[in-house]
Amino acid sequence: MAMITADPKDVPQVAAFAFTPESLAKARELMAQYPPGRQASAVIGVLDIAQRQQGWLPRVAINEVAKLLDMAPIRVYEIATFYTMFQLKPRGKYLLQVCTTTPCWLRGSEAVMKACQEAADGTVFSVQEVECLGACVNAPVVQINDDFYEDLDEASTRNVLQAFKRGETPKAGPQIARQTSAPAGGPTTLKGE
Ligand code: FES
Repeated sequence: MAMITADPKDVPQVAAFAFTPESLAKARELMAQYPPGRQASAVIGVLDIAQRQQGWLPRVAINEVAKLLDMAPIRVYEIATFYTMFQLKPRGKYLLQVCTTTPCWLRGSEAVMKACQEAADGTVFSVQEVECLGACVNAPVVQINDDFYEDLDEASTRNVLQAFKRGETPKAGPQIARQTSAPAGGPTTLKGE
């Protein structure tokens, strides 16, 4: 099992980080959305751009974000270490962010977590426990990279993970016959023509 944590003791050292021209253009576009002198407001977006370029956020990338935004590095570390969306050490190709907050827990997130932990090898899959992903109506939920997989149980979680492992991209959203976040048994109102 490869659980992602913020513990730095086994984080590999990366000597240098530089934004690619494409990443830098995206970062500057984002910064331009804020008034002059307020570029620090773009910090979460710029950290995300750095993370998407590198795959995770080594210390040198965080420093580079601080430099670009003219911020004290400690202020950027505070943000990067607070939000679970930022990965402070390398992760597998697919990051399984398993919600275990109360609504997901009541609907079986323990079994979903078990399936994810068994699949996590640190190369294809890494797993991380997260707080509410804001999709409680379709609990339990796992965010896999940028998509939400919802209404999971142990078996459907395994099916989704096996599909990723085969190189497929399983359909995101509810894994039961539910239309988006409508009642699981079908619509109960506004049923007329
Ligand atoms: S509690 Fe899991 S998405 Fe809200």
